[in-house]
Amino acid sequence: MSTLLLTVVVALWLMLPAYVTNASAAFFGGKTPIDQGRYWGKHRVLGDGKTYEGLVTGFACGFLIGLVQQLLQSRTQLQLPDFGSFPLFLVTLACLCAGAMLGDLLGSFAKRRAGVERGAPLPLLDQLDFVGGAWLLLLLFARPWFIAAFSGEVVLTVIMLTPLLHLATNYAGFKIGKKKVPW
Ligand code: CTP
Ligand code: MG
Repeated sequence: MSTLLLTVVVALWLMLPAYVTNASAAFFGGKTPIDQGRYWGKHRVLGDGKTYEGLVTGFACGFLIGLVQQLLQSRTQLQLPDFGSFPLFLVTLACLCAGAMLGDLLGSFAKRRAGVERGAPLPLLDQLDFVGGAWLLLLLFARPWFIAAFSGEVVLTVIMLTPLLHLATNYAGFKIGKKKVPW
């Protein structure tokens, strides 16, 4: 495999638990607002787009995918990175998934504070908030693994590819009626 393609595959593999977390939150979420309808100033604290159902199912689906990846990696000849040895990979996966949800919440919190209503687009923040959250928790709680697994090229690839992937999956979500807007 060419090095560029390998970097892309590694980047997608490492971020997959966070991607699945984010996508599952959108797919399964949408009932009980985490902010319970509360306002901070003129705007909602988080808005109706951040729900407990999304948070819990997002985390659960992402974590599950990560466990499957870890199993595949250890049982096959896959030339792809693992998420750490036992029990570290549990921490790594929890950081990736909880961090994705945290970043998504912080992104919405920031949008509301800036007066951007729920669902209105805020380019780059919308697509990368969950990546930032995942990396923040990894830096805090799984730093050696994070530094070893995410080379500079992988980090750059994630930052460049995630917005494109996010737009593509959101458009699909819009088409199947899971999202109100195509972003
Ligand atoms: N979702 C959820 N709970 C979460 C995250 C997402 O229920 N914790 C669901 C909501 O139905 C939300 C959809 O996933 O509308 C898409 O998520 P996102 O684009 O992050 O939310 P938006 O509705 O665009 O709201 P915001 O402006 O706050 O980003
Ligand atoms: Mg959005």
